[in-house]
Amino acid sequence: MTKRVILGISGASGAAIGLEIGRILASMDDVELHIVVTAAARRTIAHEAGTEALGLLIGRANYCHAEADIGASIASGSFQTAGMIVAPCSMRSLAAIASGLTDNLLLRAADVQLKERRRLVLLARETPLHLGHLRNMVSVTEMGAIVMPPVPAFYRNPTSIDEVVSHLAARAVDLLAICDTPLAMEWKG
Ligand SMILES: Cc1cc2nc3c(=O)[nH]c(=O)nc-3n(C[C@H](O)[C@H](O)[C@H](O)COP(=O)(O)O)c2cc1C
Repeated sequence: MTKRVILGISGASGAAIGLEIGRILASMDDVELHIVVTAAARRTIAHEAGTEALGLLIGRANYCHAEADIGASIASGSFQTAGMIVAPCSMRSLAAIASGLTDNLLLRAADVQLKERRRLVLLARETPLHLGHLRNMVSVTEMGAIVMPPVPAFYRNPTSIDEVVSHLAARAVDLLAICDTPLAMEWKG
């Protein structure tokens, strides 16, 4: 059965992780990929991944929704989805999700996942963190989201940024629990 998955990309650093998650999800035959990219993310993607990168992602997705289109399918809880990843998730978007502010489609879709008790994975990215950031992470966790800061797995001895990005992207997709076999290589001890 086809699983609808939403990928939101907001304007935090780490655009490559969102792009890689999009690539992985688009490569899955049983996934219908919906993406929504904020205005700030368009800027960070261009800055960090080049001007062609966003077009490539849009080309791979089944649906690319405009940030302002609060009437899109993914804005409604009646539209069944397997969950949503926001990668990277800015502190602005995190704060809005934590307080139930839904004035753009990424935020509304995230809010819908929470109210429908669906999986919501937030790759919240900022450093260092102030108390407000931490409180917002607690709030979204209490509401059912999974906060997954994109912290490299140094214990795997990565030899390139690409390796770090691939591992983080695979771990994020695994958190959606849509694959029978985990994508991220297991630690065998
Ligand atoms: C190059 C660049 C890097 C940024 N990195 C971060 C970041 O790591 N974390 C963060 O919370 N905001 C970061 N920002 C700021 C956000 O883009 C800004 O707060 C924006 O309003 C977020 O909007 P959005 O949540 O709608 O995407 C960055 C901005 C730029 C231009």
